[in-house]
Amino acid sequence: MTQSPTTEPTGAATSSTRLRSFSAGIRALVCGASGGIGAAFVRALATDARVAAVYAAARRPATLEYAQGLPCVTALPFDLTDEASIATLLARATADGPLQLVIVATGVLHDGDALRPEKSWRSLDAAALARAFAINTTGPALIAKYALGALARDGKSVFATLSARVGSIEDNRLGGWHAYRASKAALHMLVRNFALELRQRNPAALCVALHPGTVDTALSKPFQSAVEPSKLFTAEQSAAALLSVLDRLTPADSGRAWAWDGTPIPF
Ligand SMILES: NC(=O)c1ccc[n+]([C@@H]2O[C@H](COP(=O)([O-])OP(=O)(O)OC[C@H]3O[C@@H](n4cnc5c(N)ncnc54)[C@H](OP(=O)(O)O)[C@@H]3O)[C@@H](O)[C@H]2O)c1
Repeated sequence: MTQSPTTEPTGAATSSTRLRSFSAGIRALVCGASGGIGAAFVRALATDARVAAVYAAARRPATLEYAQGLPCVTALPFDLTDEASIATLLARATADGPLQLVIVATGVLHDGDALRPEKSWRSLDAAALARAFAINTTGPALIAKYALGALARDGKSVFATLSARVGSIEDNRLGGWHAYRASKAALHMLVRNFALELRQRNPAALCVALHPGTVDTALSKPFQSAVEPSKLFTAEQSAAALLSVLDRLTPADSGRAWAWDGTPIPF
């Protein structure tokens, strides 16, 4: 990165854009617009002076009530487990031109009895592992399959997928959460691979993973009691901080994972 990182996320806009390093007229796609962080990205982008169009993609786009009335937002359907729906999503989101920014803000950590973060290898369950990989790894990979070739061929463009610090192998000192950690670690490998391939197409394009901090959403709800209140961010704080990070990243930063404060996370 070319500038020093911020030290804490801020919800307050310091200007009318957080995306100065992009050319004006940004066309952005946010996958997971019904999620806590995804919705905050859509809201922030819709009011950013450099953004011309925001495609807000969700399994049930009709439920995105917050998006109604937001300038330049179009709600579109997709499901991570349905490749045809992803192909259709990208076709619709690029009908009027290429994209400069794609943010994949989907993910799963827990899902009732179907997926419980494991505390021991004894709890491993093949179906739960498969579900974590389907949502956290394969789904984002399939979005990349259609989105990377839909990024603008020149100028700065970014494919960013939400990941998690706990997906770092190097940083893992606690263990547990086997399916979630492993699915995010696999996502990191894909991010590195895609970045290497993407730079052949456009040397100014980036593919990165993002760690949003611990954010007050449905995903973190069962684990929030262990988090100091000052370290639990709102989705708006996290999305604003991550957009500022994306603004500061340069092509040399592609293929890596970045935290909300602009610091790199080892793979
Ligand atoms: N919150 C945190 O503290 C935290 C910390 C580290 C990393 N992260 C990462 O940040 C990302 C966003 O998390 P969040 O906190 O915003 O979680 P969230 O509020 O639970 O949102 C999860 C999103 O994933 C979508 N999704 C799940 N399965 C899907 C499918 N089959 N097809 C399409 N969309 C699907 C959900 O859509 P539906 O509404 O249709 O279910 C929802 O939009 C995740 O990758 C997570 O791992 C979060």
